[in-house]
Amino acid sequence: MASSEVSRHLLFQSHMATKGTCTSSQLSDDEQKVKRENVRSLSMCGHVGFESLPDQLVNRSIQQGFCFNILCVGETGIGKSTLIDTLFNTNFEDCESSHFYPHVRLKAQTYELQESNVRLKLTVVNTVGFGDQINKEESYQPIVDYIDAQFEAYLQEELKIKRSLFNYHDSRIHVCLYFISPTGHSLKTLDLLTMKSLDSKVNIIPVIAKADAISKTELQKFKIKLMSELVSNGVQIYQFPTDDETIAKINASMNGHLPFAVVGSMEEVKVGNKMVKARQYPWGVVQVENESHCDFVKLREMLICTNMEDLREQTHTRHYELYRRCKLEEMGFKDMGPENKPVSLQETYEAKRHEIYGERQRKEEEMKQMFVQRVKEKEAILKEAERELQAKFEHLKRVHHEERLKLEEKRKLLEEEIIAFSRKKAACEIYQNQYFAASGSTLKKDKDRKK
Ligand code: GTP
Ligand code: MG
Repeated sequence: MASSEVSRHLLFQSHMATKGTCTSSQLSDDEQKVKRENVRSLSMCGHVGFESLPDQLVNRSIQQGFCFNILCVGETGIGKSTLIDTLFNTNFEDCESSHFYPHVRLKAQTYELQESNVRLKLTVVNTVGFGDQINKEESYQPIVDYIDAQFEAYLQEELKIKRSLFNYHDSRIHVCLYFISPTGHSLKTLDLLTMKSLDSKVNIIPVIAKADAISKTELQKFKIKLMSELVSNGVQIYQFPTDDETIAKINASMNGHLPFAVVGSMEEVKVGNKMVKARQYPWGVVQVENESHCDFVKLREMLICTNMEDLREQTHTRHYELYRRCKLEEMGFKDMGPENKPVSLQETYEAKRHEIYGERQRKEEEMKQMFVQRVKEKEAILKEAERELQAKFEHLKRVHHEERLKLEEKRKLLEEEIIAFSRKKAACEIYQNQYFAASGSTLKKDKDRKK
């Protein structure tokens, strides 16, 4: 680590330590100024040894090792894996993806690399199936969700009582290499939508992929067009920092070369008496590390050699901080209470607890009221039904009674008819008997006469 980087690191650590302490964050700007002014500067009488602090820090960092997470976003087959292989001069053996996936998927692979005595835990996250769907939103939303999920995992670790951030595998994305097709035309809607939805979450470095597919003059025009499109659409891409004077000049000049036009290849070709990484065509050789052929070296210098630590730092202090702030605010935590008075975490927690308790009581009361109301309504409905039933019963009873009276009357009439009929029948029988008796004596007299 260069001494400037170490000093930056130290500054960052002290900055984070100050931010982390509850009391200092609660102090107003004026109070902090007074506090600073109260610190006296003294000249020491001799050497004590704290000048070795930067070395201690370097040693500790080397022992711990570093981690760096790269997200490669680009259409299927645009040259993502080849570029990563070329950047780290390693064959990561990534397999090809198909164009027929229904959804975009993110594939993360972690590798342990070592250069001299510096160990690097490198995670490469590749988009699989990006740009192969008809619905644009379906293409970039999984990427946004993936980045948020890594922030969330870190936040959850931070919020644990027993946290182990020291050996935690930090999977937050430090840089997003956004691969633009070498169309020479303009950005696609999907590129703009994706970069716009990612720019507040990750450091975006746009690269023109397969830059050997576009002529030098077209490339210059293409770069200008892309940058103006990004600016006019309000897409924030990562700017190499210019606050550290040792790298300010180179970084400022490199910012002017964005987006880098890159060519990737692991193939070694003999140029002169040297073997170089290149792509060989029937008409010539495109040398990957030749700055007049492409910007690969610029990208490698900026990404790995000069600004890797800044990318890690920006991820923590800018993007993660924003995620954390929004998330905690969403959960109801805030630094300032009413009347702009600072509130501690405990006060916020107590207030939230009261709020939740009050809310629960209000909900309980509401449910009770609703229950009583429902019971009353049900009771009224039942009473109405009972009343209707009673009325129906009364009506039926009346009808039944009337029917019975009518039947009774009919029965009486019938009985009277039967009696009258019986009388008539009896009279008829008497009359018949008398008739038969009379006719029988007449017949006997006639027979006797004939004899
Ligand atoms: P997927 O992972 O399947 O989405 O593909 P990828 O984006 O990782 O692309 P990959 O690196 O596998 O490259 C796909 C093809 O493009 C291979 O044939 C590479 O040789 C070729 N390729 C890679 N980089 C370049 C380049 O800079 N220029 C040219 N012309 N071809 C390249
Ligand atoms: Mg690949």
